[in-house]
Amino acid sequence: MAKHHQIQSVSGILTPIPEGWESSDLEGMLISESKLQSRVKVLASEIANQLPSNEPVVVLPLLSGAFLFAADLVRQWQFEFELDFIGLSSYRTSTRSGPIEWIHRVKADIENKHVVIIDDILDTGQTLVEATKELSKLHPATIQTCVLLEKDVKNPRPLSCHANFVGFKIPDIFVVGYGLDFALKFRQLPFVGVISPNCYGTGTH
Ligand code: XMP
Repeated sequence: MAKHHQIQSVSGILTPIPEGWESSDLEGMLISESKLQSRVKVLASEIANQLPSNEPVVVLPLLSGAFLFAADLVRQWQFEFELDFIGLSSYRTSTRSGPIEWIHRVKADIENKHVVIIDDILDTGQTLVEATKELSKLHPATIQTCVLLEKDVKNPRPLSCHANFVGFKIPDIFVVGYGLDFALKFRQLPFVGVISPNCYGTGTH
């Protein structure tokens, strides 16, 4: 497994929502579009540098939250790889994770190949642990994990819950945008924002 890569910290300070995207449901912006885009480029080259050249690679974005992040990330890679999607769903109330189940299993043959799992956010870590555990049974050569965001949760996660590549470390708050949703909304925001506290309890996943 690759060592934990450099993390770019973001403070808890929110900035105003960019013009045109304002909504009474949004409290503020946490990570701007330009910061996301420049970090994605760096992450893409960090991951590419870790992959052995001329060996088969399978990239597996997790549905649905990683779709925009993965789309931007993979378009940086000019080497050849297979792309498939996997889906895990945690039963959630509006903002809390619950038990997890597979909704889309891998179709690609990953045996003896280098697998890169791409997820939106590392919260409790149970999604990445389950994905890694199940995919290991298919005998890939290696599995690397990459998340756009890692929440700074109070209780430290076990080592097995860590991602190899992390875009930004963020405070333990519920975020939306750049693929992440609240009640299936806000995925299309080009930035990462924070929903207003008065929205909590009104959404379902
Ligand atoms: P964990 O690491 O707890 O994460 O297995 C499970 C999934 O929960 C979702 N999640 C969030 N979604 N804003 C979101 O829109 C958040 O702040 C957030 N925290 C967790 C996400 O889909 C993750 O893959």
